[in-house]
Amino acid sequence: MITTLEVPAKVKAGEPFQVNVTVGKEIPHPNTTEHHIRWIKIFFKPDGDQYAYHVGSFAFEAHGEVVTGPNTGPVYTEPSVTLSMKVNKSGTLLALSYCNIHGLWESSSRIEVE
Ligand SMILES: [Fe+2]
Repeated sequence: MITTLEVPAKVKAGEPFQVNVTVGKEIPHPNTTEHHIRWIKIFFKPDGDQYAYHVGSFAFEAHGEVVTGPNTGPVYTEPSVTLSMKVNKSGTLLALSYCNIHGLWESSSRIEVE
């Protein structure tokens, strides 16, 4: 499943910017009790660094589960998250998304500090 990462091409060192991660932006991913995106995790790997740093984890907990049965609940989370972050060097932002049926998906995007 395509995970779309929206990141500014250029950012200023130490200044907050927004990142959006959405699963299935073009073709929606199923979002049912039986089949849904469970979580998105974001990592940042600075240029020249051997480590990727954990930026955030976002769990999607509501998929129509309710006492009357599956897919009849009052609330569904959408597999999309927007966060603010800041970096002090250029690097690569990595997003992992997890579908309970299809497993793990990965995408990445460059961030250039000017
Ligand atoms: Fe899936």
